[in-house]
Amino acid sequence: MKHPWQCLILLPSVSAHINLASSYAPDCLTFASSIGLSQYNASFLNATYHPAGLLNISGLTNDIPLCEIFTIISYGTNDTLISTLWLPDSTDYANRFMAVGNGGMAGVIDTANMLAQLNSGLGFAVAGGDAGHSALDNNAGAGAPGIYLPYLHDPDQVEAWIHDAIALFTPAARAITEAYYGESPKYSYYDGCSTGGAQGFALAQYHPDLFDGIVAGSPGNWSSHLALSFLWNAQQTNTSARNLTQEVLDFVTNAVLDACDTLDGVADRLLENPFACNIDIDNLACGPNSASTTDNITCLTAPQLSAFHAIYSGPVRSDNGKPLYPGFSLGSETEWLLQEGPLADAFSIPILQNLVYNDLSYNSNTFNWASSVGDLNRKAGAHIDETNPNLSTFRDAGGKMLVTQGWADPFNAALWPIKHLHQIERALGGDVSEWFELFMVPGGGHCGAAGGYPGVPASYNTVAPLVKWVEEGEVPKEVQSTDPPDESGRSRRLCPWPETARYVGGDEKDWESYLCK
Ligand SMILES: *[C@@H]1O[C@H](CO)[C@@H](O)[C@H](O)[C@H]1NC(C)=O
Ligand SMILES: *[C@@H]1O[C@H](CO)[C@@H](O)[C@H](O)[C@H]1NC(C)=O
Ligand SMILES: *[C@@H]1O[C@H](CO)[C@@H](O)[C@H](O)[C@H]1NC(C)=O
Ligand SMILES: *[C@@H]1O[C@H](CO)[C@@H](O)[C@H](O)[C@H]1NC(C)=O
Ligand SMILES: *[C@@H]1O[C@H](CO)[C@@H](O)[C@H](O)[C@H]1NC(C)=O
Ligand SMILES: *[C@@H]1O[C@H](CO)[C@@H](O)[C@H](O)[C@H]1NC(C)=O
Ligand SMILES: *[C@@H]1O[C@H](CO)[C@@H](O)[C@H](O)[C@H]1NC(C)=O
Ligand SMILES: *[C@@H]1O[C@H](CO)[C@@H](O)[C@H](O)[C@H]1NC(C)=O
Ligand SMILES: *[C@@H]1O[C@H](CO)[C@@H](O)[C@H](O)[C@H]1NC(C)=O
Repeated sequence: MKHPWQCLILLPSVSAHINLASSYAPDCLTFASSIGLSQYNASFLNATYHPAGLLNISGLTNDIPLCEIFTIISYGTNDTLISTLWLPDSTDYANRFMAVGNGGMAGVIDTANMLAQLNSGLGFAVAGGDAGHSALDNNAGAGAPGIYLPYLHDPDQVEAWIHDAIALFTPAARAITEAYYGESPKYSYYDGCSTGGAQGFALAQYHPDLFDGIVAGSPGNWSSHLALSFLWNAQQTNTSARNLTQEVLDFVTNAVLDACDTLDGVADRLLENPFACNIDIDNLACGPNSASTTDNITCLTAPQLSAFHAIYSGPVRSDNGKPLYPGFSLGSETEWLLQEGPLADAFSIPILQNLVYNDLSYNSNTFNWASSVGDLNRKAGAHIDETNPNLSTFRDAGGKMLVTQGWADPFNAALWPIKHLHQIERALGGDVSEWFELFMVPGGGHCGAAGGYPGVPASYNTVAPLVKWVEEGEVPKEVQSTDPPDESGRSRRLCPWPETARYVGGDEKDWESYLCK
């Protein structure tokens, strides 16, 4: 099995098949090697001109020609970050700069997202970086119990990973962009999901003047406690009686959908708003005359019910019962196998062993859900979290932030961004929708499709509305999602929370048949 954290968090195993032989435009190379970058702690590495269609990222190619420039940035006591910048020909450039974030434990540049931004037709110069360490230092993203991950032992690299990754390369990348086109980019944007969503929150909190607009998807911005939720869910299901098999998970999702699917007026095996669903899963308990078999699940045993309740409620402190992270939502059960061990193995246990306790033999079963939480907060939270709800400096600089979160995300509890929105509103005195919006995605997964919902459109077209918001002051009233994995052609209307999409008649597969209310 591929490591889930690695493959599902868009850690791209892509490589740019750079076509050196055919044609680099001499002026790309001449230009790039001539710019002075030392004031940005950066040095030029190499440059390549890619005609349209010749930069091949996992089978997708560039619609427009570009000059690609690699640089290396020094930071910390003895650390480096590799960054690349794609500069379209000036006829394809609209004075806009776009930086993309990383997935999972980073260490590679997300060229797949760079390509999507380049091909968006919005005229971006696009930059990305490796977050200040190479994949060699995080076992190619595949954390596992007992594996030494060098980057988690270098305090500068830990701080760079989420807090500073984007800010470290952006000044140099923007300076090169300015030199190339003869004027500085008028607007700067950021797009990232998962760890990249957390990096987006880090920009708003720690580097509030760098970007005009930020898209942060499925943000793991309380990263240390996100890791706690992985560990909690793994421990709560780690006996054969409490083990929730795929059949058991599907049984519950089906019961939830049977009870609540049509609350939104459409029978599409999808919950528009899990909060509206009041099913009591205790009613699924096995009684004296009912029993499940492995192949025919018809009810839940007491240990299974108890495991479900633990995952819906989320981790709590053992001493005072206080919540440590939100739990999962109704309808998200189908991919919980990831929560039943794989994510704890890939992320939580490596963080405890490498970063918190510096002991590869640390046994996570000894984690104390009261006293150990403080160790985690001190050793990890202070360096990888970005949870300050006071984003007033970003707001006052004119920044706009658009957050997306799938209701059926098997990694992040979907409730966290909603809680965070409320924290921001409380910190800043009420409605923040002029500059901060959250779009929940019914049946949406982690940065795209959810395994149990192949009919749900998996591309969220967020960047164009963000550009309009920043440049024309038009607050997004909806986001269109497209491209469901089942190729049914369905599109959906995503709404700024707390609005949800209501069916108003017409083709149920067409986003035009819904209104946000
Ligand atoms: C370059 O590095 C120095 C020393 O680490 C730091 O003080 C300075 O802010 C950096 N400059 C930029 C543009 O990042
Ligand atoms: C440019 O440098 C990057 C980073 O070291 C490297 O991955 C890439 O292969 C280099 N490209 C060329 C054309 O040398
Ligand atoms: C792009 O590279 C893939 C291998 O990663 C190859 O299968 C495909 O044919 C290439 N596509 C183009 C258009 O060159
Ligand atoms: C700096 O890092 C390089 C590459 O990792 C290493 O070879 C070198 O010994 C380090 N220097 C110091 C002073 O730590
Ligand atoms: C699950 O239990 C086994 C056996 O006690 C243990 O080795 C493993 O570390 C546990 N896994 C988690 C994620 O707690
Ligand atoms: C849970 O079930 C799966 C598949 O049926 C099995 O691989 C796994 O070992 C079980 N885990 C426990 C803790 O019983
Ligand atoms: C599953 O169990 C239910 C209730 O006991 C029974 O009605 C049904 O026929 C069984 N289905 C299969 C496929 O065995
Ligand atoms: C938010 O941060 C700003 C800038 O640091 C500060 O002036 C303001 O007092 C803070 N607001 C709250 C409610 O803490
Ligand atoms: C990120 O963390 C902050 C601080 O706790 C929180 O207010 C905010 O809601 C979080 N954002 C998301 C989208 O999780």
